[in-house]
Amino acid sequence: MNHSVVLGIETSCDETGAALIVGGKLVADRTTTQVLHEKYGGVVPELASRAHEQLLPAAVAGVLNDADLRITDLDAVASTYGPGLAGSLLVGVSFAKGVAAAAGKPWIAVNHLEAHLWSIMLTGVVPPLPFLALIVSGGHTLLVAVHNFGDYYRLGGTRDDAAGELFDKVGRLMGFPFPAGAAIDREASEFQGSPVEFPRARLAGDPFSFSFSGLKTAVLYYLRNRYPQNGNRFDIPAPERAAISAGIMAAVADMLADGVTNACDAGDYRAILATGGVAASRVIKKRLGDMASQRGIPFLTPPPALCTDNGGMIGYIGWRRLATNQYHSLSIPVDPSAQLFSHQL
Ligand code: KG4
Ligand code: ZN
Repeated sequence: MNHSVVLGIETSCDETGAALIVGGKLVADRTTTQVLHEKYGGVVPELASRAHEQLLPAAVAGVLNDADLRITDLDAVASTYGPGLAGSLLVGVSFAKGVAAAAGKPWIAVNHLEAHLWSIMLTGVVPPLPFLALIVSGGHTLLVAVHNFGDYYRLGGTRDDAAGELFDKVGRLMGFPFPAGAAIDREASEFQGSPVEFPRARLAGDPFSFSFSGLKTAVLYYLRNRYPQNGNRFDIPAPERAAISAGIMAAVADMLADGVTNACDAGDYRAILATGGVAASRVIKKRLGDMASQRGIPFLTPPPALCTDNGGMIGYIGWRRLATNQYHSLSIPVDPSAQLFSHQL
């Protein structure tokens, strides 16, 4: 058993995350979501970078304190080098490199998407290989065939907006605070009537990809034709807003389930995994769970705190790479558009 101690740092978007992994287990996690973006209706990159700079030192000191460890106890420091917002990545990577240099320990660059794939391991559940992964968040909607640790094949992804981005954009029009996904999901899962019918995009010749911009436009037109506009939102009576939420959720769940079904038909997977903030949706979890059980394979999804961005998932990848001495030079830069390849850095 490898008892190494790894500090994981996540700053790719609007979560400031620090966590400690000891022996592959999450022993401390101080991840916070930056609330300052709420009033802008979206993440403001410059403000996110500044907030990371302010929040990260206390988060790192906090996890060391929680676990009663010092910097000298660390065996490595891992941080997200991409994909994500350039300025935010720079804050986390620079800080991580500094801690690694001060401790005289290696630094490990972690791909954020790879970290999402394996956050499930922090729950103690080991997914059977190969598995099909749906990474679905505010920044990504991606279908990946996972053959092994480090061996990934990108099947498809969104051609335009990410699913979470769609929820956040239409949610704003409907008067929900940012980010709107959880509120739309709650209204949809409590709604009893018949949902508003919205179109589902299907991409000819590309069965594993998604498109959500048509749905966004359809919702905008639906609202414009029916409700008075008040600034950048529409005044919608509560029961109607719930029917619209249910319609949006049903359309997104259908499109995601379609892509997952097509991928399952084309491959031989032993489990379906959903991760990323949108995988916290009760409606989507139910839909994908039913699909997996019809096929007789498990549906796996981490609890919401491990679905959304967090330091633990970064530390876990660092811990795995440390075990095989995969470190990185401190001169490796951030890569805001890093891809998920079979071969990492
Ligand atoms: O993974 P995450 O924290 O950050 C990104 O990497 O984007 O995902 C945030 C996204 C937001 O778009 C938010 O609206 C959405 O996840 N979200 C949800 C739910 N909780 C968060 N969407 C649907 N249902 C939820 N329960
Ligand atoms: Zn993420």
